[in-house]
Amino acid sequence: MKQICVVGTGYVGLVTGTCLADLGNRVICLDIDEAKIARLQNGELTIYEPGLEELVARNVSSGRLTFTTSYAEAVPDADFCFIAVNTPSGTEGEADLGQVRAAAASLAAHLKDGAIVINKSTVPIGTADRVDHIITRHLPPGREHVHIGVVSNPEFLREGSAVADFMRPDRVVLGATKRSDAEYVATLYISLQAPILITDPRTAEMIKYASNAFLATKISFINEVASICDKLGADVRQVADGMGRDPRIGRSFLDAGLGWGGSCFPKDVKALAHMGAVAGCHPLLLRTVIEINKDQRRKVIQRLRDTLGSLEGLTVTLLGLAFKPNTDDMREAPALEIAHLLLGEGARVRAYDPVAMSRGREVLPDCTYANDAYEAVTGADAVVLVTDWNEFKNLDLSRVRSLMHRPVFIDGRNVYDPVKARAAGLIYHAIGRGSGEAIK
Ligand SMILES: NC(=O)c1ccc[n+]([C@@H]2O[C@H](COP(=O)([O-])OP(=O)(O)OC[C@H]3O[C@@H](n4cnc5c(N)ncnc54)[C@H](O)[C@@H]3O)[C@@H](O)[C@H]2O)c1
Repeated sequence: MKQICVVGTGYVGLVTGTCLADLGNRVICLDIDEAKIARLQNGELTIYEPGLEELVARNVSSGRLTFTTSYAEAVPDADFCFIAVNTPSGTEGEADLGQVRAAAASLAAHLKDGAIVINKSTVPIGTADRVDHIITRHLPPGREHVHIGVVSNPEFLREGSAVADFMRPDRVVLGATKRSDAEYVATLYISLQAPILITDPRTAEMIKYASNAFLATKISFINEVASICDKLGADVRQVADGMGRDPRIGRSFLDAGLGWGGSCFPKDVKALAHMGAVAGCHPLLLRTVIEINKDQRRKVIQRLRDTLGSLEGLTVTLLGLAFKPNTDDMREAPALEIAHLLLGEGARVRAYDPVAMSRGREVLPDCTYANDAYEAVTGADAVVLVTDWNEFKNLDLSRVRSLMHRPVFIDGRNVYDPVKARAAGLIYHAIGRGSGEAIK
C-alpha cells in the first residue's frame, strides 16, 4: 500500500486523491482552506462531480482516504506528494505560480528521503525545475542530501466526467529528469492499463498546454465557420458532421456555440500565448482563438439588440450557468460574461441552472434566480440557452412560448431543430444554422 499526499483538494486534487485511494493506496488530501477540509471531514462533498460522492464515502469508510490542513501530518510518511493547487491567470495572462511555490516550500520541510513530488497542476514550461529548486532551498538543515524526485504529471480529466476520465485515461504523461522517478510514479497508474508516455519535464508540461490550446482552437475554428454559415446560409451542424467523418479531423470539439470557458481553457490558452510571446514568438493563432471566443458572447447581445431594440428594462433569462453540463463550476463560464453584458445594457437577468445555483448567487448577485426552467422563462422578453444540460434539451417549446412575454429564444448550444422551434411560435436564433429551413 503506497502512502500518498495530495496537496490542494479542489476539482483535480479531490478526484485524484479519491481515485488513488480507490486503487488501494492510503491517501491524505490536504488543503489550506480550513472550511473546505472541515466539510469533507464531516462527510460533505465540496464540489459536484458525477460518481464522486459514493467513491469518497467508500474510501473514507475503508480508512484509505482522510483529509487534513496539516503538512506535518500528511507529508512525512508519503512516498508520493501530488501538487494539485490552482495556477490562475496573472495580470498579463501568465500562469500565476504563487500557490505552486507555496505548496512546494511547505512540502520541503516534511518530505522523507526518496519521496517524489508530482506536479499535477497545469504549470508553465520549466516549473518542474523551479519546484526542484524551491524544495532544495527549503529542505531543513541537516537534510540537504536527501533525494527528492520531481515529476511532471499533467492532468487531462474533464469536469463532469472526472472520475471516469481518471480511471480510464487516454494516456498518462510523466516528465522527469531521472527515468527511474517517472517509472516509480508509473506504478501508481499501472492498473489503469493506459499508455504511459515518459518524457523530459518540459515536454510533459508542454503536452498539457498544447492539448488544451488545440481543443480551444478547434472550438474557435468551428465558431468562425458558424459565423460565415450564418451569413451565407449553410448549417454549421451538418458542416461539422460532414467534416468530422474525416478521421484526420474528428467530430469532437466541433460544436459551434457560445465558446469555451471553465477553469482551464481560458487560462491555459492565455498562458501559452504569454509564454510564447515572452520567448520571442508571435502566437497570433492563439490570440485570435481567444478573440473569437470573446466575440461569441458579445454576438448574443448584438443579436438581442437587433431583435428587440434597447434591452433597458427587459427581462432576459439564462438557461444554464455552469460553463458546461454536469458541473457546478462557473469559472470563466459564458453565462458570467453574458450576464454582465446584459446588466450593462440595463436588462434584468434571471437565471436557472440544475446544480450551479449557489455558485451563481455568489458570483452574480445582481441576477434573480428561478426554481426550474419554466419558472425562469415566465414573463421573459428573451431566453438564452447557455449550457446544454440534458434537462434543457427536451423543453416543451410551445409551453415555453406561452409563458414568455416576448418569444425571443437564442439557442446558444444549437440544441433545437430550428424548424420545430419556429413552428412552436418562437423567434428562434441559433449559432451558424443559416436559414434553418427544412429540406423539402
Ligand atoms: N479543473 C479541471 O478540470 C482541471 C483539469 C486538468 C488540470 N487542471 C489543473 O489542475 C490545477 C488545479 O485545478 P482545480 O480546478 O482542481 O483547482 P481548485 O481551485 O478547484 O483547487 C485548488 C485547491 O488548492 C488549494 N490550495 C491553494 N494553495 C494551497 C497550498 N499552498 N497548500 C494546500 N492547498 C492549497 C485551494 O484552497 C483549493 O482548494 C490547475 O493548475 C488546473 O489548471 C484542472
